[in-house]
Amino acid sequence: MSASPNPQAGSQPLKQHLIDPEICIRCGTCEETCPIDAITHNDDNYVVDAEICNYCMDCIGPCPTGSIDNWRLVMTAYSLEEQFEWEELPEQEELESGEQGSVSLEALEDEIDALLAKAHEGTGGKAVVPASASKPSVNLFRRDHPAVATVQGNFRLTKDNVENDVRHIILDFGDTVFPVLEGQSIAITPPGSDKDGKPHESRLYSIASPRDGERPNTNNVALTVKREPEGLCSNYICDLKKGDQVQVTGPFGATFLMPGDPLANIIMICTGTGSAPFRAFTERRRRAMPDAPGKMLLFFGARQPDELPYFGPLMKVPEDLLAKHLVYSRLPDQPKEYVQDRMRDCAGEFSELLKDERTHIYICGLKGMETGVDEALADICRSENLDWASLKPTLRTTGRYHVETY
Ligand code: A2P
Repeated sequence: MSASPNPQAGSQPLKQHLIDPEICIRCGTCEETCPIDAITHNDDNYVVDAEICNYCMDCIGPCPTGSIDNWRLVMTAYSLEEQFEWEELPEQEELESGEQGSVSLEALEDEIDALLAKAHEGTGGKAVVPASASKPSVNLFRRDHPAVATVQGNFRLTKDNVENDVRHIILDFGDTVFPVLEGQSIAITPPGSDKDGKPHESRLYSIASPRDGERPNTNNVALTVKREPEGLCSNYICDLKKGDQVQVTGPFGATFLMPGDPLANIIMICTGTGSAPFRAFTERRRRAMPDAPGKMLLFFGARQPDELPYFGPLMKVPEDLLAKHLVYSRLPDQPKEYVQDRMRDCAGEFSELLKDERTHIYICGLKGMETGVDEALADICRSENLDWASLKPTLRTTGRYHVETY
């Protein structure tokens, strides 16, 4: 959404936009996203400046934890200095209902709700959960009381000749109840502290296993982690040994969830480690409803087969459960192919699925892919007499279009 004047400027009371410090993992996405620099941070907290925030809602969708979606009705806005000090959000103050000066509290509530609803139509705003998804648990374990998981396995997924390895890590929760759904994430906090003596920030990872564990009825989760050069947390995780203990917060994510409807068609588009949630989706379908009539399609981009996480296991998944389009950008003597190129090649099948009200689209992986995939969808629609400009908002508002890029 484009920036517009603060709709509540100069009026009292105010519905103040706040970030929950207990849930925030300090990834900085909100500050990067805010088009008018209303979000800032100190060493402790990310905070919203009430004097600048114009309720454009661009920051709501990209926040991976939902900590950004907090609001308090206040007579005087909390200052940045107050917010920097918080370890938890203050309770809602008791305000009298009815007119306060020229503004009613109910009107303020309605105004913000309308802005949030409007934001659903753009790229920002709150994403909508698929109607048939199970109800997720979120934020059960926070920074001040993390769950402790034990490493059960750590396997290399990419061939030895590949520079930055991708690893499959299994974390077991023992007796701790840590319920997850396919599509959710957890955050891991590396041990130790930074140069200023502060604990390291947590990093978020999508869960690659289904809700009932890496094997049925196990209390564990799998992660797909790429070793990033100089990456503090990715190197910590990739070097973990069996038996090591890890601090985990979460689970996070209440919208990028799998539809439970067996008739739902699920189109999954990913690059690299963005495949993690789709491994979870595929395993869930295979275990819970192997004969589901809904189709599952995977468009998965990697540089070459040696760098495609889960290449071997994926080859064994039957095509009638999962139609696989594995595309490669760096095969010797072959033209570069991206996921969006293959989608265009499948325009006929794609457009049939787009016409079906039970079709859901999920995109996960490199941020750069988002625009390319969007353009491909617009082209596919154009060639088949569909209008992507009106279809996309419909998919979003009905919980059938989900993007998680980084
Ligand atoms: P490329 O060969 O151009 O880097 P990575 O290995 O870095 O995780 O990337 C996974 C795959 O995503 C690679 O094949 C990479 O191709 C591809 N990729 C890079 N940029 C885009 C983009 N804008 N849209 C789609 N795929 C992309």
